[in-house]
Amino acid sequence: QQGPAFDVNAMTLTRWVLAQQRTVPGATGDLTQLLNSIQTAVKAIQSAVRKAGIAKLHGISGNTNVQGEEVKKLDVLSNDLFINMLISSFTTCMLVSEENSTVIEVETERRGKYVVCFDPLDGSSNIDCLVSVGSIFAIYKKTSAGEPTESDALRPGRELVAAGYALYGSATMLVLAIGKGNGVNGFMYDPSIGEFILTDPNMRIPEKGKIYSINEGYAAEWASGLKKYIEDRKNPSSGKAYGARYVGSMVADVHRTIKYGGIFMYPATNSAPNGKLRLLYECNPMSFIVTEAGGLATNGQISILDIQPSSIHQRAPCYLGSKKDIEELMSYLQ
Ligand code: AHG
Ligand code: MN
Ligand code: MN
Ligand code: MN
Repeated sequence: QQGPAFDVNAMTLTRWVLAQQRTVPGATGDLTQLLNSIQTAVKAIQSAVRKAGIAKLHGISGNTNVQGEEVKKLDVLSNDLFINMLISSFTTCMLVSEENSTVIEVETERRGKYVVCFDPLDGSSNIDCLVSVGSIFAIYKKTSAGEPTESDALRPGRELVAAGYALYGSATMLVLAIGKGNGVNGFMYDPSIGEFILTDPNMRIPEKGKIYSINEGYAAEWASGLKKYIEDRKNPSSGKAYGARYVGSMVADVHRTIKYGGIFMYPATNSAPNGKLRLLYECNPMSFIVTEAGGLATNGQISILDIQPSSIHQRAPCYLGSKKDIEELMSYLQ
C-alpha cells in the first residue's frame, strides 16, 4: 500500500518552525518570523542559482546582459536578498555580511532583537563551473542594552540562538539547528509546492568516518602534525585508507561530512596563520550545527565555539566533523 501520491499533510519548514516556537514558553514568534524571512531569501537565491546561465547571472559576465539590464553577480544578488528579507522582517537590529565591510545597522523603526551574521553565497568561486554553492547564517539574540554595536556580533558561537545553511546542490536543502540540545533537521525544497519539506529529521553525524576533506594544494604550507595526520589517512599502519573529497564550497563539504561522517579541514598555513574561513558566518554556524549533530569543531587548540571574536571578518583555522576523527587529529596537532 503506497503512501498518498500527494502529501496533504506535508511537514513544511514553516509549519515545523511554528510548532517549535510553541514549545518555547513566552515565545513571541519573532524567531519564527526571522526564519521565515531567511527561507524566502533562500528560495529566491536557489531560483537565481538554478537559472544563472540563462539569465546571464554568471560572475564573469560583466554587469549588463543582452537586454542591457543591470545584472548583479549572484553573490551581490544573494546579499541584497538576505539584507532586504531580514530588515523587512522587523526582527533584526544589526547584520554582519561577508559582502559588507562594516556592520549593517537596522533603522530604529524596523528593529527587532536579533543579530544575524551571514555568508549569502558560499563557494562563489564555483558558480561559473556549476558546482554546488550555499548560504550560511548565524543568529544571536541581542543581550546588551542601548544601541546595537559591533560587540553585539562579537560573541562566542556558544551563545548562538540558531544556525543554519542552505545547499544549492543536486537538490536544494535547508539545514537548521535551533537552540542547544534540540538537534539538527534537514528540509528538502519541493519546487512543485515551493516549500521546504522535513526529509532529514534529527540528523546525526557518524561517530567516525572514512573521508578526509582538505585542499591538498597547500600541503607544502601545513604544520608537521597535520602533514603526518593526512599521510596516516592515506597510508594507515592498520585498517583501510580514507577516501578524499573536496568540493571547495564549505557548505557542500560540511553537509557531506555530516551525512557520511569524516573530517573537513581548512587549516592554518604558513602564509595564512588563521586559515581562510571567517569565524562569524562560516566557522561558528557550521561548528554549532556539527556539534548539535554530535560532532566536534576545533581551531586546533580550542573549540571553535569558545573563540572570543575581536573583529567581524576575522578568520579561524577550522577542523570539524566526526567526534572520533577530530579526537584523532588533535592527538597529532598537540
Ligand atoms: P566564499 O565563496 O563565501 O568566499 O567562501 C569560499 C570558501 C569556502 O566555501 C571554501 O571551503 C573555501 O573558500 C575554499 O577555499 P580554497 O579554494 O582555498 O580551498
Ligand atoms: Mn563562504
Ligand atoms: Mn560568500
Ligand atoms: Mn567570498
